Amino acid sequence: MKIIITENYDELSQKAFEVMKDVVTSNENAVLGLATGSSPLGLYANMISDHKENKTSYKNVTTFNLDEYVGLDKNHSETYYTFMHKNLFDSLDITESNVHIPLGNGDLESNCADYEKQMADYQLDVQLLGIGSNGHIGFNEPGTSFDSLTHVVELKESTRLDNARFFEPLNEQVPTHACTMGIKTIMNSKKVLVVASGANKADAVYAMVKGEVSEDCPASVLQNHSDVILICDKAAASKL
Ligand code: GLP
Repeated sequence: MKIIITENYDELSQKAFEVMKDVVTSNENAVLGLATGSSPLGLYANMISDHKENKTSYKNVTTFNLDEYVGLDKNHSETYYTFMHKNLFDSLDITESNVHIPLGNGDLESNCADYEKQMADYQLDVQLLGIGSNGHIGFNEPGTSFDSLTHVVELKESTRLDNARFFEPLNEQVPTHACTMGIKTIMNSKKVLVVASGANKADAVYAMVKGEVSEDCPASVLQNHSDVILICDKAAASKL
């Protein structure tokens, strides 16, 4: 695992952008695995600025997002569908039919199987990941099998608490379930780029990098991947 420790979040976002830009400029048909959460926001802002200033094109890029909440209307302000369009896709020249996000409504089992089928036609050039404070990747909570494919999960209480900040202003509860790419799905990516910021990620970053490879910490599986870049700020790296 290549580890880059930065002074702060801005530097983290710049370094992550350099990795992403290299992928999209070396192949105009690049396939990107994308993530939500606060951690990638700076990277996405850099991708948008670069697209505007340097005309880096995403027209032929294909994307697959990691996960989606179950039970929210697609256009609800807190779906990952809305998050991705608001924070990235609406400001790029990406072709909407090339954008893939798991569906959190309808027949979930069949949606998950369809998502895997769609992904089978591609290989991700890079999978971007944040990390949950309990070591989750995507919404693969501790205890998830390393052999898992896209599936429905029940969210841990700690994850729902971590994400409550987004739902509190709406007077709504965090959904109890989500659809997520599985750990095996994530591990199929050619490259994995992990971004982690802040002291509340320090334990999870330590367990990912130096802990035992165990389903108790889903991110620890990345020790078994041959091309992982972890970019974290000093606070997130403080226990390494
Ligand atoms: C969320 C998402 C993950 C994300 C993680 C960390 O629950 N499902 O994909 O990486 O939690 O989020 P944040 O970056 O906001 O800390």
